[in-house]
Amino acid sequence: MEVKIFNNSTEIGNAAAEIIINKVNSKNDAILGLATGASPVPTYKKIIEEYNNGNVSFKDVKTFNLDEYCSIPASDRNSYYTFMHENLFNHIDIKEENVHVPNGNPENAEEYCAAYDESIVAAGGIDIQVLGIGRNGHIGFNEPADEFTAGTYKVKLTDSTIEANKIYFDHEEDVPRYAITMGVQSIINAKEIILIAEGKAKAQAIHDMIKGEISPACPASILQKHNNVHIFIDKDAASLL
Ligand code: PGA
Repeated sequence: MEVKIFNNSTEIGNAAAEIIINKVNSKNDAILGLATGASPVPTYKKIIEEYNNGNVSFKDVKTFNLDEYCSIPASDRNSYYTFMHENLFNHIDIKEENVHVPNGNPENAEEYCAAYDESIVAAGGIDIQVLGIGRNGHIGFNEPADEFTAGTYKVKLTDSTIEANKIYFDHEEDVPRYAITMGVQSIINAKEIILIAEGKAKAQAIHDMIKGEISPACPASILQKHNNVHIFIDKDAASLL
């Protein structure tokens, strides 16, 4: 694991964006695995800036997002589909047909999830996966559990995750209780991973991910086994290392 500690979120975003842009410039049809949440927003901002400056094009890039809420439509202002369009896709030249955000309301979740994994494999696999980390060590919506998860699946969210997501919804009862998420195995199949975290609330999860034993009690700890991971964090998130 390469662990880099930065002064602020802008520096983190610039460093993460540089890796992604270099990849896309060396492989125009790169496959990007993308994440929602606050952590990757400065990265997406920097990517948009570089796109506007003519330094990168996404016209042949394909993206696969980690997860999506169940029970709200893609058009909902809180869907991850909306988030990705507002924070990135609407501002670059990516083709809508090359954008994949899981359908949060598939008719048959099992078949849909298997097909999502198959479409990643068929595209050639993810070149770079962007990740945040939950306060409980989750990656995607893979919550602490007894076993590491495999492929994409429908997950029941934990109270801790529902609590963290509450800020985005008007009423607590509106916060989705289920999501479709890539499994841990689908995530670590990526050739390169950038995990971004900021703030004291993430410090314990960062400590457990890097220094703890590899255990599904901290799903992110699986990244210790991956040979091409960048951990980009600020001083607060690094404060327990
Ligand atoms: P955040 O979420 O980037 O909004 O902190 C990360 C996560 O829960 O995976």
